[in-house]
Amino acid sequence: MKFFIDTANLDQIREAHDLGILDGVTTNPSLMAKEGITGQENVINHYKAICDIVEDNVSAEVIATTFDEIVKEGEALAALNPKIVVKVPMIKDGVKAIKYFSSKGIKTNCTLIFSAGQALLAAKAGATYVSPFLGRLDDISSDGLALIEDIRTIFDNYGYETQILAASIRGPLHIVNCAKLGADVITAPLAAIAGLLKHPLTDSGLATFLADHAKAAGK
Ligand code: E4P
Repeated sequence: MKFFIDTANLDQIREAHDLGILDGVTTNPSLMAKEGITGQENVINHYKAICDIVEDNVSAEVIATTFDEIVKEGEALAALNPKIVVKVPMIKDGVKAIKYFSSKGIKTNCTLIFSAGQALLAAKAGATYVSPFLGRLDDISSDGLALIEDIRTIFDNYGYETQILAASIRGPLHIVNCAKLGADVITAPLAAIAGLLKHPLTDSGLATFLADHAKAAGK
């Protein structure tokens, strides 16, 4: 399973990268705004900075919502760096644009997926990734993990190569459950990824080992 970090914060991207487990980065306009990145030139420079840190898979989201504009914006983003994956919303013109990008060999991430039907459509259009938003479904008392399971079944039924990128992850248990269900990728905040490290028995066990070692060594 691939691990992406879901942030536009360069320090957090570096920290996850230094851990040696990072396969990519997802951003969205809200995450960019959170870092105070505004204006076309700053946004472009920020994508370049992210590409300098990670080896591959940097999702850069288009703002456009019409076919011609999505294509124009997406091609400009893709031209920045071969690591860029053009993130396109699940709307009619977005699906058309994904089909176009796919025919040109440009990688895409279809975002804002909330149903299995949307994921099927994006896969048929040739999306590289689909991003079902787990946490936002859970927030409205819908079962986000059940959506991952349904998409897995559908993609396996037909051998779609589109990868399931579980997004809107809220904590470490979401990551583990996505792994159990066969999601190809998770994108999560640093805290959720770091949460995987933790277990109180690891902490107490290590403290005991170190104390016993010190005692035996006469310290
Ligand atoms: C990633 O591609 C999505 O934009 C992101 O995971 C959304 O997460 P949120 O629901 O926490 O905003």
